[in-house]
Amino acid sequence: MTTSFAPRIFSGIQPSGGLTLGNYLGALKRFADYQGQGAETIYCVVDLHAITVWQDPEKLRHNTREVAAAFMAAGVDPSVSVLFNQSQVSQHAELAWLFNCVARIGWMYRMTQFKDKAGKNSENSSLGLLAYPSLMAADILAYHATAVPVGEDQKQHLELTRDIAAKFNHDYGVNFFPITEPLIEGTATRVMSLRDGSRKMSKSDPSDASRINLTDDADAIAQKIRKARTDADPLPGSMEGLKDRPEARNLVNIYAALTGETGDQVLARFEGQGFGAFKPALADVAVTALAPITRRMTEFMADPAEIDRILGRGSEKAAAISAPIIERTKEIMGMIRSR
Ligand code: TYM
Repeated sequence: MTTSFAPRIFSGIQPSGGLTLGNYLGALKRFADYQGQGAETIYCVVDLHAITVWQDPEKLRHNTREVAAAFMAAGVDPSVSVLFNQSQVSQHAELAWLFNCVARIGWMYRMTQFKDKAGKNSENSSLGLLAYPSLMAADILAYHATAVPVGEDQKQHLELTRDIAAKFNHDYGVNFFPITEPLIEGTATRVMSLRDGSRKMSKSDPSDASRINLTDDADAIAQKIRKARTDADPLPGSMEGLKDRPEARNLVNIYAALTGETGDQVLARFEGQGFGAFKPALADVAVTALAPITRRMTEFMADPAEIDRILGRGSEKAAAISAPIIERTKEIMGMIRSR
């Protein structure tokens, strides 16, 4: 028996510190594009994921609102999409527990993100950090989401989501959970650090110069791009010529993602020029793209009570979709419901 699932898009962002250009180009920027394209769109600030490592409560509240503001500043319309924070919809935690009993511990130990975050002293990391992907599978499957737009670094977690769905369906002899498609698209699925082309741009990098934050002003953006690590060679005529030049490739990819061009189109204009010419052009493009986002985020953040109301309304809508799916999951697993 094959069940067909209505097209539904889900994605989430952790409120674990300021957002970067990587979050924007790899995820946020694309979220609004899926609205009104036939699929329901559900976007979540994943605060339960954030607390897998220590979060100061006051900062967590601030960051949760800031990520919600960033979603809206990037064009997510809460009257079109469902926009909410994870902890207000208890179905996420509930389904995560059910999935903890389907997923295998070995699957969790294999996650590169766990290995990176737990570091050498993994025995001392929270149990939640190990079970993180099970909660992520719950986020997605609580809505029977069929597609998930993310950056490249989430690919392994999405494969695990598919494994959990498939094992559940197999173990219980049902076709209840969809096998969700990752949407890893565009020229900036993996934006790299401005200081080291072999590392991902990340909000947790100790060096602020390694990233562009969505809250950086025009001067800070221009300065970080000016100081970005590059090489002394001129730019080639196509991306093929940047194969072994990770820092240069990263800057060209960023430019292309910001203007909606391909890397080759950008290079056709800059062929033969050095970074003395390319960097100021990139800074201009970045400031033009990011300044309106930063401004709108600041406007939303001026009214935190309104953000909380929006998240509250979104949470009600999210619960209305996920509650029946979780009830049915429990029924499939043999749990009695006598109300
Ligand atoms: P998070 O909060 O680390 O990042 C949010 C999104 O930004 C993307 N991203 C990047 N893309 C390109 N280049 C980069 N340097 C870069 N850094 C981050 C991430 O791929 C992600 O799409 N586990 C997730 C949050 C999550 C989630 C979910 C996502 C929880 N539940 C369900 C999708 C569906 C995370 O930590 O993302």
